[in-house]
Amino acid sequence: MLVLGIESSCDETAAAVVCDGKEILSSMISSQIELHRPFGGVVPELASREHLAKIDPIVQEAISRAGVRLEEINAIAVTQGPGLIGSLLVGVCYAKALAYGLDIPIVGVNHIEGHFYSVVFENPPIEYPALALIVSGGHTNLFYVPEEGAYKLISRTRDDAAGEAFDKVAKMLGLSYPGGPAIERLALEGDASRARFPIAKISDGKPDFSFSGLKTAVARYLRENEFTPRTDGGEASQWAKDVAAGVQQSIIRSLVRTTESTARELNPKTLIVAGGVACNLALRNEAERAAGSLNLPIYFPSKHLSTDNAAMIAAAGTAKLRAGKRAGLDLGADITLRLQNIDLEDAATRRKAKYKL
Ligand code: KG4
Ligand code: ZN
Repeated sequence: MLVLGIESSCDETAAAVVCDGKEILSSMISSQIELHRPFGGVVPELASREHLAKIDPIVQEAISRAGVRLEEINAIAVTQGPGLIGSLLVGVCYAKALAYGLDIPIVGVNHIEGHFYSVVFENPPIEYPALALIVSGGHTNLFYVPEEGAYKLISRTRDDAAGEAFDKVAKMLGLSYPGGPAIERLALEGDASRARFPIAKISDGKPDFSFSGLKTAVARYLRENEFTPRTDGGEASQWAKDVAAGVQQSIIRSLVRTTESTARELNPKTLIVAGGVACNLALRNEAERAAGSLNLPIYFPSKHLSTDNAAMIAAAGTAKLRAGKRAGLDLGADITLRLQNIDLEDAATRRKAKYKL
């Protein structure tokens, strides 16, 4: 089965052709990083305009690089949500029009489920139950996946996502967007023991994450030490490198500790770490150490598949199509789309806190 994946939930316009849910014939990504860099983050209106300009050429390129004709595509999988509404709408409308024109099935994919499927191309088949940490700029979730297509949300962030925390601290340090890679680079030459930052504990005892306190702690630390970020693009000070190392360590410890303790409790057969933050080598090393001590296999996507891409959307869509799922032409973008489909959340907790999923 040849599935065309389309992804446009945030600041990457992407299209990919995937065969049988596991072989990438092509994967094209048009990144908007340079467009948004002067603003230090994604500007939604600019993002949707850019998607509109890029979607058709990127899809055409994906088809031609795959060496197939458009008429050979069996189905289309498109990111339905969560994400930015204007950005999502471009992909969803384009995908629906194309599916209608070609008279082939279309399926909507949850972007986070897409990240889960990003590991299927370069790793052995996922053995269920799996435990998956999805960490990106918009999401920080730990899912228990007892069987294909069933998701129970174990942990989520109560405020900022892990990638967002990297991005915000990087901005304070005068580093360019996106902040994750910039912090990782500085942290390589920094000493985390010289700039320690706290790991938030949630007072109701849930295994959730929280990163907004870290952001505040770093802001206070920078202020107390009268830090002024360099604006000339020159070499960062040793002090800034130590702060980067301390921040990175705090974020990684929080993510890995919770994943490790949950794995001890739930006994999964596979650990998965995916999403843009999974590019971080220090996170990979720490997660690998935890997997080793649990005697579990751990799967990561390669760099190209860690950040937003359409191959992962095609793979997730293929699984849905195989399970008999199809969308109608009334498929809409849904910015609040949730992935959990077993064991509804504790209603009392939901009332108290706002979540980012
Ligand atoms: O998955 P992704 O491309 O987009 C979302 O779905 O959000 O993730 C982007 C996020 C950004 O916050 C970026 O700073 C972070 O992933 N990121 C990293 C690294 N590379 C990207 N964070 C830490 N270390 C990295 N090397
Ligand atoms: Zn993503």
